[in-house]
Amino acid sequence: MVKREKLSVEPYKGVRDFYPEDQFLLRYIFEHMERVCELFGYEEYGASVLEHAELYRGKTSEEIVSEQTYTFTDRGEREVTLRPEMTPTFARMIAAKAREVPLPARWYSIANVFRYERPQRGRLREHWQLNADIVGVAGVEADAEIIAMAHGIMRSLGADERNFEIRVSDRRILDAVYDSVGIESGLRSSITRLLDRRAKMDDFKEQLSAAVSNNDKAEALMEHLERTTSTAYLEELRAQLEHMGVRNMVVDTKITRGFDYYTGMIFEVYDTDENNKRSLFGGGRYDNLLALFGGGSIPAVGFGMGDVTTRDFLEAHNLLPVYAPATELMLCIVEKNALPHAMKLAQELRREDVTVAVNFSDKRVGDQIRQADKMKIPFVIAVGAQERESGRYTIKNLSSGNEITLPADRIAEHLFSSLG
Ligand code: HAM
Repeated sequence: MVKREKLSVEPYKGVRDFYPEDQFLLRYIFEHMERVCELFGYEEYGASVLEHAELYRGKTSEEIVSEQTYTFTDRGEREVTLRPEMTPTFARMIAAKAREVPLPARWYSIANVFRYERPQRGRLREHWQLNADIVGVAGVEADAEIIAMAHGIMRSLGADERNFEIRVSDRRILDAVYDSVGIESGLRSSITRLLDRRAKMDDFKEQLSAAVSNNDKAEALMEHLERTTSTAYLEELRAQLEHMGVRNMVVDTKITRGFDYYTGMIFEVYDTDENNKRSLFGGGRYDNLLALFGGGSIPAVGFGMGDVTTRDFLEAHNLLPVYAPATELMLCIVEKNALPHAMKLAQELRREDVTVAVNFSDKRVGDQIRQADKMKIPFVIAVGAQERESGRYTIKNLSSGNEITLPADRIAEHLFSSLG
């Protein structure tokens, strides 16, 4: 016989498998994101992970496009990219139907995105990202709404305002500083990206001087930036947010965000926990991106919130939900010939909306019950000759040990009242 190499059970580097408990947590996060977006009047949209590579070139972030995209040539010689973010897709979709979509449009999507990054804490090669964006509003009220939504999701996940901080700045502050220091426009986006990465760099000063190619200018730039503590616009934003009950916004001119398309307000939500003091997610205003599609510019603002950093946050703050499988009931089989009866009973219960699994293991009934318990299924019924004959079933609650014996048509009602 030919000796075969064993296949690896490891997933591809930097991506995850979601076992049921992981998927449960992912679903939990998604449900909170979705609910809050819908509470704000946002509608869900979706798109393929495959995009024309062209969509990203020279329009988003040099670093992401040249170093972090998964790009390949398809069999028809087209250059294809796995989306590294959702904003260009969103802008393309709005631009494609700019005349039909009633503005302002409020849309959200939870999409998987791909970036060829060095995998590390909080950074993977595939993650899920909520994107919530509003197009067609140039005023500060849209910035306030977007931030209030980000705040609402954090609150909905159980965080209180002391657990996180919303750091806000404005790209126009950077532009004004670049103007006054005299930084050429060609250098600005790479300097902005340097500033964005500053906290993670040891040689920031050297790199900045090299990028500006002038020590005095580099110093003047940092000095100007530090001197700017807020603007009238950001104070108006703060006032609106406070009016909406959001009290943990701080102005932080060190926030720059990595993408070239931002034009106004930008923000990052930070964990305040000493052990997890990092950016969790962020977004901002991009009033010129839609114009790239030729239909004129339409103002837009939104944010992207990843599942990886959200999960780390929940863990750091003890906010993880307790796993509960969707299955409410397991029918355990006392003797083999009770199986058809149990399968019929299961069908009846499903018609009444009970989620029910039949145990096919053929093990002793005690072992079947232990298995249900291990799977965290809350209720079991043992089905044997006695149940078949009497038409009455004993429902056992595995966490309390309580039992109750009922006819088939009362089971669903009992489960629903005890599951609350
Ligand atoms: P971004 O900051 O690149 O923004 O990504 C948004 C969020 O996605 C991050 O703050 C983080 O939570 C998560 N994230 C990003 N990269 C990774 C990664 N490699 N691994 C795990 N999580 C990650 C954007 O993508 C913008 N398009 C967001 C936006 C929407 N701006 C306006 N509208």
